[in-house]
Amino acid sequence: MHFREMKHHGFYESLPRRAQYNISDACGATATLNDILSTEQIAAMASIPLIYGSVEGREDLREAIYQLYADIYPELGIEQLTILSGTAEGLFSIMASILESGDEVIGALPCYPSLSDLPACFGAVFKGVELQEQKQWQPSIAEFAAQITDRSKAIVINSPHNPTGMVLSQLWLDELIELCDQHGLYLISDEVFSLSDFAGSGCQPKVLQYDKAILANVLSKTFGLPGVRVGWVMTRNTALTESIRNLKTYNSICQSQLDEQVACVVLNNAKALIEKNNAIVHANIELFDAFVQERDWLSWHKPGAGLLGLVHSERPLQALLQEWFEKDVLVLPGQLFGIDGDYFRVGFGKVDFPQALANIC
Ligand SMILES: Cc1ncc(COP(=O)(O)O)c(C=O)c1O
Repeated sequence: MHFREMKHHGFYESLPRRAQYNISDACGATATLNDILSTEQIAAMASIPLIYGSVEGREDLREAIYQLYADIYPELGIEQLTILSGTAEGLFSIMASILESGDEVIGALPCYPSLSDLPACFGAVFKGVELQEQKQWQPSIAEFAAQITDRSKAIVINSPHNPTGMVLSQLWLDELIELCDQHGLYLISDEVFSLSDFAGSGCQPKVLQYDKAILANVLSKTFGLPGVRVGWVMTRNTALTESIRNLKTYNSICQSQLDEQVACVVLNNAKALIEKNNAIVHANIELFDAFVQERDWLSWHKPGAGLLGLVHSERPLQALLQEWFEKDVLVLPGQLFGIDGDYFRVGFGKVDFPQALANIC
């Protein structure tokens, strides 16, 4: 196996210096332990035994996570949930468990680089369905169906989507599940932005009724806690759960006990943090929409959920991003996510977004 560096990590390293603001960041509002834990909860962490934890993850943590899904999957439970180090480990473990050399994986392009690039690490081929701006970035089922061959193994989706902000409807997902079922395909649902439902549109995909579907989610995005490496995968497919847990015994073995403790506290109070962070995203999106409307050389499809949006500039991108970087504002070009042309990604999770925008006004 050979692993190439993910494009956007190389991009960050190539920058001459750090900018004060990064308005492309894909995470929710940054928090410290002091922001999310009480003094007593922080003090209690000092007496946690720093031993190995369980491979599948702490039972009470999985119980708290399951509460995010209890309404839509009442028949499932913590047995179907496995804790991993972020969705990064989740996607890796899923693909390592299902892919063999020569397999094909179908997914949308542009996308988070791991979705398109990981399959090649296992000798598989990624086949992209190109999302188009004039179609509001919405793919059709027919476009996915057209990519299916005898070698197809899985379809991967990410809704709300990185980088476009596109949201797949449940009607569309139901049709996709039917297509997967007809061809015996796995369905990998990367749901890292699904709790960023700032307008209450009901953007959480429901896919686990299909026994070859698996979802992945994490504390990094809506909760704004990428430094707490706690993510999870959930599937009713017991063979897949077993394989993912077995793989974990060879790499991370378990989560950090401190991370699991923080995650427990956060998830037992999930609703409040989700609402707080979604309000920030909502306000930033409105602010940015006004910024776009005031500039006839910018255009976008304002996202209805998630944390991200993709913007087109009629001014040449490289010079524009350079000009903004000089004003201490970093913006990531669309090329890092597999889209050519003068597009850039914007992330709405940060509290300092208005100040960043003021710098480039
Ligand atoms: C769509 C998507 N999936 C997965 C990840 C991986 O993040 P993490 O490992 O923090 O879950 C990211 C990070 O930006 C992402 O945007």
